[in-house]
Amino acid sequence: MAGYLDRIGAGKILVDRSPLSYDWTPNTLVGRDDSLSELASIFSQIENPDTSCKAVITGPVGSGKTVLTQVFANDLRKHLEGRRKIVHVHVNCRNHPSGPQVLQQIAVSLDERHPERGFSAGEMIQSIKRYLRTHNAHMLLVLDEVDVMIRRDSTDLIYRLLRIDEGQNERGTMSIILVSQDASLLRLFEPAIISRLGASSRMNLHPYNRDELLQIARQRAEASCIKGSIGEDVLGKIARYAAESGDARLAIELLEAAIIRAEREGKGQVETGDIHPSKMRSASVEPNQVDDLSEHKKLILLAICRRLKKEDVISSGDALKLYHVVCEEFGFEPRGYTTFWKHVKSLEQSGMIESQTASATKGRGRTQHITMSNMSPGVLETRLSSVLSSN
Ligand SMILES: Nc1ncnc2c1ncn2[C@@H]1O[C@H](COP(=O)(O)OP(=O)(O)O)[C@@H](O)[C@H]1O
Ligand SMILES: [Mg+2]
Repeated sequence: MAGYLDRIGAGKILVDRSPLSYDWTPNTLVGRDDSLSELASIFSQIENPDTSCKAVITGPVGSGKTVLTQVFANDLRKHLEGRRKIVHVHVNCRNHPSGPQVLQQIAVSLDERHPERGFSAGEMIQSIKRYLRTHNAHMLLVLDEVDVMIRRDSTDLIYRLLRIDEGQNERGTMSIILVSQDASLLRLFEPAIISRLGASSRMNLHPYNRDELLQIARQRAEASCIKGSIGEDVLGKIARYAAESGDARLAIELLEAAIIRAEREGKGQVETGDIHPSKMRSASVEPNQVDDLSEHKKLILLAICRRLKKEDVISSGDALKLYHVVCEEFGFEPRGYTTFWKHVKSLEQSGMIESQTASATKGRGRTQHITMSNMSPGVLETRLSSVLSSN
């Protein structure tokens, strides 16, 4: 019901705010025909009731991974109507990061009366299977941001799900699409999983170019605003800013902020001056993700971001040194190596950074390489510096 407030200030430009929300699913996707066709070919046998398909989709933030799976699942369901019943279940593992939570989400999406607790993983999987069998349905399961669950909980659940029909008479219980920002997702899997996923099931989405971002912004503008209230110059400026990262979400956020600003000022048209890109950049990070970190985690993350703004990777040794520098700057006593490393691991578990053992380790100790593929280090750095200095 709180949505009724969205109408406040609406009038001269805005007709409907909902297309500006990023969980709004457009009917057609800009520039992703090839990706949809590729998915369709991975799922080419899906009409056969004994068939299950698997796909892995990677790509940077805002490259349309989530929306691609949604559009594909909707289209597929409609396409197979009357031939095979497809139930689409989408779980975002960032919101449900443990194996049991993911299973619970699946069970609840299938049947909202599913009881909250008290089942083992095996029992949950049996009950999911039973549901699908009695409803004569095939589940298309999308595990979005799946690396967050894998880093926290290992790959056990994925393995179980991929083997759901093995050693039984059943076939074709579920298809799975794994989605992640982490292009090296497959390195997190054991060979048994990789071989079950199959080599031809992987797709990587590229960041959008300026023209695609322009079309995405135009699609949202047309769906939400009075015709003629947003000029091509405005859309062009938005596309130019968003093209730096290729992030469609940024384009949509810039558009929304510009519309709201213009409406507040009582204007009947959005102008290029209503676009304020620098503010939007830091706003596009989920603020609570860094705000809620402990002081030392913030300091460590800041140290890492400073280097990763300029380079793709930082060694654990350099991260420790830079952490000491940052501690001094903000007046904190640095913690010892063990605590430092525990914090790094915990930042990794929450999906903010990744670490990997360096292939050629020189000297003593276990050098790790730290990278950040889920977020923009520059944006995080700004946020962390301001949070730390306001304390
Ligand atoms: N090709 C596209 N056409 C139209 N809208 C898109 C397209 N790609 C992404 N979007 C929109 O941009 C926003 C971010 O996309 P999303 O799928 O959430 O990206 P990701 O999951 O890769 O971070 C969403 O609102 C989505 O609907
Ligand atoms: Mg997504």
